[in-house]
Amino acid sequence: MIPVFRTILGLVLGGAVARLAALLARLHVAPSRTGRRATRRSFVRNAALGATGVVLAEAVGGFLWFWWPNKTGAFGSEIAVPPSEVPAVGAPPFESTEGRFFLAHNQDGLLAMYTKCPHLGCKVPWVGPPDAPTAYQCPCHGSQYNYNGERTGGPAPRPMDLFAVRVDADGTVHVQTSPDGIQRSAYAPEQAVPYQA
Ligand code: FES
Repeated sequence: MIPVFRTILGLVLGGAVARLAALLARLHVAPSRTGRRATRRSFVRNAALGATGVVLAEAVGGFLWFWWPNKTGAFGSEIAVPPSEVPAVGAPPFESTEGRFFLAHNQDGLLAMYTKCPHLGCKVPWVGPPDAPTAYQCPCHGSQYNYNGERTGGPAPRPMDLFAVRVDADGTVHVQTSPDGIQRSAYAPEQAVPYQA
């Protein structure tokens, strides 16, 4: 999809620049209304205006390109987890590699936890089992977390960060991923989103 969009954008911009150049050339050689050819001054003015237009068009194009929403199903966007992947209460969490989160299901509901350690940012893997004091452990500096992402050891300053969760009527779970997770100082039941399979 993105390469196609780039190709279309290139064709449109290329065509616009070519048309502008042709217009400038015509202005330079075409007789004016008074029957005289365009003066050198008018040519320079038109050329300057044309160059300014091209630079502005490129700036606007670059701006639009930068802000064009191109993330779907990737980290930074909302990621859907089908009902078949949602873990049962107390089961090992579902891991979304592209979304960088664990979806855990405790007695209060669902928690989507950012896999990035809040200490120095290493990826925290699941080490299980769910009822062990240490369910996730950072391999870099040893921070440990229980099933709900609460710190149980190591240098991390807080529990694992959360992502917002919403649930569709058909049981599909949507996790809003972001480089900035939702910070918390401890686990509270309100953080979990109730889920009916
Ligand atoms: S980065 Fe947090 S303990 Fe390793």
